This record gives sequence, C-alpha cells and structure tokens, in this order.
Amino acid sequence: MQIIDEAKNIVLIGLMGSGKSAIGRTIAKKLGRRFIDTDRFLERKTGKTVSEIFEQEGEQRFRLYEKEVIKKISQYIGIVIATGGGAIKDPENFKYLKESGWIIALYASPETLYKRIEGKRIRPLLLNQDDPVKKLEEIQNERKSIYAKADFQIDTEAKDIDNISGEIMDLLNIEKPMTAFDFGL
Ligand code: S3P
Repeated sequence: MQIIDEAKNIVLIGLMGSGKSAIGRTIAKKLGRRFIDTDRFLERKTGKTVSEIFEQEGEQRFRLYEKEVIKKISQYIGIVIATGGGAIKDPENFKYLKESGWIIALYASPETLYKRIEGKRIRPLLLNQDDPVKKLEEIQNERKSIYAKADFQIDTEAKDIDNISGEIMDLLNIEKPMTAFDFGL
C-alpha cells in the first residue's frame, strides 16, 4: 500500500457546516498528527472571537488576520488543517495551502449545512439573514469554482464523521499507524 508523504499537510476546505473541524480533528487523531483550525488559531492570536472581529473591526480586517494565519501555518509540515470557509477566496492563501499538501473540499447541500450549524457558534456571514439557507446557497455558488480546484472532492451529505474520515484516509492511501491491537497485545 502506498503511504502518503508524511510531510504533506492535509487541508480541509468547504463551507461552514461542511464538517472541516470535526473531520480534521478525527483524521489528525487517527494519524497522530497535529490539528490546526485556522479560526481557532486566529482567535487565540488576537484574543477575540471571529464574530467579535467581524463586529468590531469588519470582515476586511478579519481576512487580513486570516491571511497571516494561513501564511504561517502553511509552513508547518505533516499536520491537518481545517480552514475557515472563506479562506481560500484569496488566491495567495489557496496557493500557500496547495503548496503545503493535499487539499480536500467537503460538500453538502445548503439545507444540510444550515441544519449542522443552526444554534451553534455565530457565523457572521449569516447574521441578520431572513433566509440563511438561501444565503448559504449564494455563498456556495460564489465559491464553487474555487472549491473545485481542490485535489479531492468529498460529498458529506448523509454521512457521519467516521465514514467521511475513513473515505479521506482511503483516498490518500494512508496507512493507519499500528497500535498494540495490531500486534495482538
Ligand atoms: C467564514 C466561515 C467561518 C469563519 C468566518 C467566515 C466564511 O468559518 O471563518 O465566519 O467566509 O465562510 P467556518 O467555515 O469554520 O464556519
């Protein structure tokens, strides 16, 4: 079995609610790799939540912070990265991430995306939207040509985290690290 280049990062992209963080964390755990969520990284660095930044400093400023974070973590090797849904809109961000490893785009219908994020962390782009599902559809349409540039496309509709993580591991031909169980211990 071909084993993925251990130096290459695994980068998850996709809209909010596509499962980037949950799937990224699961894959990282299975592989014993470090996991970084760009939004959480940015929040620790700035001492503010993403929604506070949007509210107090505006989206443009947020995108600048996001760009700094992407530039920095693209230099790390052998990690799993979950990006904020809009991070790849910036061509330079996409380039840095692409150079750092495999890019995997996660998809789901706007209805499913909304069901997954409803009542959870505030997503500033959906604030004060009369029809958040329609808004998600618009954002999806705006970004689909960029998400399509990923190395792999995964449909997450009606699948659970374990299924999707397994699918990604198979796709990348990743051999799971041996455990005591494999040795019959
Ligand atoms: C954004 C998605 C959010 C966050 C910010 C902007 C976007 O991240 O980065 O609210 O532009 O799609 P998640 O995709 O993790 O929700």
